[in-house]
Amino acid sequence: MSSLPDAPLPNRPGEAALNTLAALVQDDLEACNRTIVARMESPVALIPALAAHIVAAGGKRLRPLLTLASARLCGYGVARGETRHVQLAACVEFIHTATLLHDDVVDESALRRGLASANAVFGNKASVLVGDFLFARAFQLMVEDGSLSVLAILSQAAATIAEGEVLQLITQNDLATDEARYLDVIRGKTAALFAAACQVGAVVAGREAAIEAALARYGINLGIAFQLVDDALDYAADQAALGKTVGDDFREGKTTLPVLLAYHAGDAAERAFWERTIAQNEQTPEDLPQAITLIERHHGIEATLARAERFAHEAQAALGCFPPSPLRHALHEAADYTLHRAR
Ligand code: IPE
Ligand code: IPE
Ligand code: MG
Ligand code: MG
Repeated sequence: MSSLPDAPLPNRPGEAALNTLAALVQDDLEACNRTIVARMESPVALIPALAAHIVAAGGKRLRPLLTLASARLCGYGVARGETRHVQLAACVEFIHTATLLHDDVVDESALRRGLASANAVFGNKASVLVGDFLFARAFQLMVEDGSLSVLAILSQAAATIAEGEVLQLITQNDLATDEARYLDVIRGKTAALFAAACQVGAVVAGREAAIEAALARYGINLGIAFQLVDDALDYAADQAALGKTVGDDFREGKTTLPVLLAYHAGDAAERAFWERTIAQNEQTPEDLPQAITLIERHHGIEATLARAERFAHEAQAALGCFPPSPLRHALHEAADYTLHRAR
């Protein structure tokens, strides 16, 4: 039987807000982690072995935390026997984990959650197939929940994630990509699941459409901010803290916002650099430090983080329809955490 590490994750800058949120739903989160471990079991030993590799590596559990907190904010999960949110939080983390397994194959990433990625350890084929298993498991969890509304929201999110990843593939190496198109990519590949994770919390609580919409609005804006920061960190993070390889996006020729901003602000020589490295994908080992220098010269990280801040504020505004409470406060702070996170 696979198990999770007992020790809490070490504190890192900006994580206090996330720890507060986790503390408020601690029992639910522990139950969710138990469901995750139980439901990744299979008689085909490679499946739990590979799944345990990525699950036990940690991860912030941000999306399941959003489901648990949203449900409780809506008044669900307080009475005895109300556990749908726990099962759905596990379902959300399974969808996330499946996309990570697939994403690391597509991005040829070697590092995930501070460990060698599953594709590096088990190979691409096993990662893709176990990702499929986790997707299928997520759908089984939805069917067990029995709500067609939940199924509609989460299955739509799963389709939208795939669309976002495919759209990203199309915009890769294409410096004609504009900011609106870039936002379409990150709204799809990342923010849609954040929105769905929050929205299902309102659904299990049986709350009205306006509350569902408010939580979806919180989630989509939080998710956009989260991915903007992720794309800044890919050029600006301390790799050990990030637990992923800095520079993966550059190597893949991704047209993320820091690159687009530096490209448009650059002189002819700088634009030629981006055309060679991103559009032609011709790179040498010195090119990543040079890319970072050019992004810094044009304040591409600050500008990306400033965009993220706008979306984080929009997320916080969406919480205005809930009465003040420790949970609402923690969700508000989670948006600030997103901006200051180191991993
Ligand atoms: C990674 O998400 C994928 C992105 C959307 C950038 P997280 O940073 O939430 O990954 P874990 O689950 O904490 O490892
Ligand atoms: C997020 O994009 C991927 C998914 C939402 C599946 P990234 O490719 O930037 O994520 P990381 O940086 O590998 O975690
Ligand atoms: Mg990736
Ligand atoms: Mg990234």
